[in-house]
Formats: sequence, C-alpha cells, structure tokens
Amino acid sequence: AQAPVLALDGPSGAGKGTVAREVVRTTGWHFLDSGALYRLTGLYCQRRGVDPAADAAGAAGLAAQLPAAFRLDAGAERVLLDGEDVTAQLRTETTGALASQVAALQPVREALLQRQRDFRRPPGLVADGRDMGTVVFPGAELKIFLTASAEERARRRHNQLKEQGIDVSLDALTEEIAERDQRDASRATAPLQPASDAQILDTTGLEVPQVVEQVLERLRARL
Ligand code: C5P
Repeated sequence: AQAPVLALDGPSGAGKGTVAREVVRTTGWHFLDSGALYRLTGLYCQRRGVDPAADAAGAAGLAAQLPAAFRLDAGAERVLLDGEDVTAQLRTETTGALASQVAALQPVREALLQRQRDFRRPPGLVADGRDMGTVVFPGAELKIFLTASAEERARRRHNQLKEQGIDVSLDALTEEIAERDQRDASRATAPLQPASDAQILDTTGLEVPQVVEQVLERLRARL
C-alpha cells in the first residue's frame, strides 16, 4: 500500500504552514510545501527572463526542470534554487504574486504534478497547498481545508513579517491577500476550493496548538 497522506489545503494565511510543520514534527512524516514549488517556479522564470503571461510553455519547461533543493540546516529549512539560497526571497509578497501568476497556468501545474507526488513516501506525507485534496492526492487518507477570515489572515501575516523585521501596512496586506484569494479562487485551472470530502476547519480565534490538536485527532481517527 502507498504511504498515507494528510492533504492540508486552504487560502494563504490560514495557518497551514505552521500547522503542517507541527504535525510533521509530531508524526515524523514527510512534508510537501507545494506553494514553495510555485514560488520557485515564479522566481526561476524571472531569473531566466521568461514572462509567464506571454509564454506559458516556457514557464512550464522551467517548472519541469526546476533545479530546487530543500535542506534542513541545524533545524532551519533552507531552499536552494540552482545552488543559491533563496529562502528569504521565497517568502516575500513579490514572490507570492509571481507564484500566483504561474500557478494559474495549466501547463505549469501539470509540469509540477509528478514532482509533488514523489514526496509521498513512508511513513507518510503532510501535503500543504491549495489542490492537495482535489488534484494532487485525491485519494488522501484525510483532507482538511483550513480557513480563517481575511482580516485574521492579514493580521497573522503582518505579525510574521514584523518578526522578520519587515514593516508593511496592515491595510495594504489585507487588500493584497483579498486580491490573491480572489485570483486563486476564480482561476479556471484548479481554483481554490475544498474537496467534496474535505473537513473544513475554521481557525479564526484559535491558537496554533488547538488547531494542531484537532488535526492530529482527526488523523488518528483515520489511521
Ligand atoms: O502557499 P503559498 O502562499 O506559498 O503559495 C503561493 C501561491 O502559489 C498561491 O497564492 C497560489 O496561487 C499558488 N499555489 C497553488 N497551488 C498550490 C500551492 C500554491 O496554486 N498547491
């Protein structure tokens, strides 16, 4: 039998990344940060001078041969692109916007499909993204769709950025997040929506440990 998968989907800022990493720590399962693959593809297009809006096939070609590596360096995750550490650059809003652009292209999504499925290895996989339960792992043992209000998600992102010493206005961030949600939810290919068999978990007003406990409880019930 194939290794079990926990598909964790939802909009940006719902807390997926934090929750996924905690679940990974507890279970010892592998981790797929699918958003990072789209972010890397966006960055790689920029670096190679490919405009995804004008050249979807070119962008897909780059996605198919993405020279990316994920490392753990003294407990800290590092992401390399073509051997260069792009960890900090990966998280910026600019890269997020690039990612959302390439993510709207069907050929890019197809080019990244097998690469994502290759993360499924024993003892199991926690897959973080938008279409983990709908497209990449439709047979996942457990599908959870994490949500939170746009205001709460902007607030969390704002705090995250502040911790990194990055100062942006909360209003601008709320607007950016709402715009990105809109684009992700309304695109023709793989729009952001819960799988029909996903469990919806609204994290507004919940602390991370409470969310993690709920996810782990639901996971135990499935295994
Ligand atoms: O999760 P993260 O914010 O890193 O994702 C960046 C962008 O990549 C999202 O806004 C979305 O457009 C895209 N994405 C996607 N499918 C995924 C993961 C991310 O379309 N599975």
